[in-house]
Amino acid sequence: MTVIRLHTCTLRPWRDGDENSLAELASNRKIWDRVRDFFPNPYTLRDATSWIRMNRSYQMPVNLAIEIDGRAVGNVGFTIKEDIYRYNAEIGYWLGEPYWGRGIMSEAVPAMVEYVFHNFQINRLYACVLEGNSASMRVLEGAGFRPEAVMRKAAVKNNRYLDEHIFAMLREEYLARREELSAMARH
Ligand SMILES: CC(C)(COP(=O)(O)OP(=O)(O)OC[C@H]1O[C@@H](n2cnc3c(N)ncnc32)[C@H](O)[C@@H]1OP(=O)(O)O)[C@@H](O)C(=O)NCCC(=O)NCCS
Repeated sequence: MTVIRLHTCTLRPWRDGDENSLAELASNRKIWDRVRDFFPNPYTLRDATSWIRMNRSYQMPVNLAIEIDGRAVGNVGFTIKEDIYRYNAEIGYWLGEPYWGRGIMSEAVPAMVEYVFHNFQINRLYACVLEGNSASMRVLEGAGFRPEAVMRKAAVKNNRYLDEHIFAMLREEYLARREELSAMARH
């Protein structure tokens, strides 16, 4: 089973029993405002049950729950793209509001980057961040993603057009960074 133990949290597969915590923490307009519209709002127990049912069936999970004190408090995951984009994956994440600002996602995202490049044939990992979400941009920059483009007013949220910021990391950049970090750790 995939379990990644970090300083601030543990990443592990979603499982039965996570429903209440998921529905409670994900049902938050401040989260919904920063993610795609398909993210349920309000996030009901029924939504939580179907998310867990869908995700527990994977041999190699593409979504991992962020666990703190035995409770699932967020998600970090990715979707693999198709056709000529099949070596791309898009990373996505959210964290329950009571846990913001403690450095949790700054640790979870690099761990997910390593998980993706280590276990999947992916050449480019990218993220799409809506205008104004500086915490998410900081998380990505800290993990080694490069700002690649701004898709001007590409998204619509709450009836407002918003710029979408694209951040990406190539496999070769991940490998170089890993090498650099382990050289620093040796000295
Ligand atoms: C974005 C989110 C994942 C950040 O997670 P987090 O664990 O709170 O982030 P961290 O504590 O690791 O902080 C990351 C960086 O953002 C900064 N930051 C935190 N909150 C911030 C805020 N409100 N405004 C600006 N910067 C902020 C931190 O200081 C840190 O910067 P540093 O690396 O320079 O020290 C979390 O706020 C969240 O779930 N938001 C709603 C959903 C969402 O935005 N998902 C991503 C969609 S692209």
